[in-house]
Amino acid sequence: MILAGPSILDPHGPEAHRLAGVWWLMFTMAVVVYVVVAGFILVGVLRGRRSDGGRASRISEGAFIWVGGIIVPSAILLVLAVVTVQATTKVRRPERNPLPIEVIGRQWWWEVRYPTLGISTANEIHVPAGRQIQMGLDASDVIHSFWVPQLAGKVDAIPGQHNLLRFTADTPGVYRGQCAEYCGVQHARMAMIVVADTPATFERWAARRQTTPSPPDGDEQARGQLVFMSHPCAGCHTIKGTEANGTRGPDLTDIGSRRWLGAITVPNTANFLEAWITAPATIKPGVLMPPTQLPPDQLKALVAYLEGLK
Ligand code: CUA
Repeated sequence: MILAGPSILDPHGPEAHRLAGVWWLMFTMAVVVYVVVAGFILVGVLRGRRSDGGRASRISEGAFIWVGGIIVPSAILLVLAVVTVQATTKVRRPERNPLPIEVIGRQWWWEVRYPTLGISTANEIHVPAGRQIQMGLDASDVIHSFWVPQLAGKVDAIPGQHNLLRFTADTPGVYRGQCAEYCGVQHARMAMIVVADTPATFERWAARRQTTPSPPDGDEQARGQLVFMSHPCAGCHTIKGTEANGTRGPDLTDIGSRRWLGAITVPNTANFLEAWITAPATIKPGVLMPPTQLPPDQLKALVAYLEGLK
């Protein structure tokens, strides 16, 4: 799967466009200042080399310091301050009928809830392209920061404080994001993707997520479900429509349809799923999920069951 390059200079929404605009303005001003200052240095060096010490300047030193050291930098900072505040205020402005999504930063994954749709998932956030998202951000343990550079600026997820982030993805696509606040040993592997679907695809996705998954398909998956329910898995994870209702780990109701495991650490394949169940710390050292040792046939059945949860 190809992920678009996660750069703020590749904006895919109106909010991200404004932030990219501020970046380009800052960059342009910095280049102009650099060129002017470098020019003065060059002039100074060339003049200083002359044996007569150079002619006296027509501009007094005092005026030079006032203009170059105080007035011009103040004007530049003032312009940047106004533009930044303007862009941020516009970014935060609510539109009509935004889609509320609650995201909770946890060590080291993202819990994702759609309160109006009754959907719960993790790490892969489906949104309808073209509709504004009103994202509530919280954290359950330490401070995290939600950052999908192509769609919006960073907003911290802080325990005990509800923060708000508004953004719109204007084109369908997969946008990668990353926790942007050091939050412990696996901070680097606390990524997420925003999957912007066309409105019709999003509707289908939501409808599918709202229905309780059908019972296991076939003997092997049924055995796998039994393994899941009779091992500690069910104490930490929820699978809708079963007795598994743990909340310590990600909701696994749609695990079979997710593209990645371990907060976008490895692709969601049967091999990685086996490795993740038996020795998660080899993939993500420090992960809070304990290893589960299973006989090979039970492991295979369990993986078949989980892969079938779509
Ligand atoms: Cu969560 Cu860094």
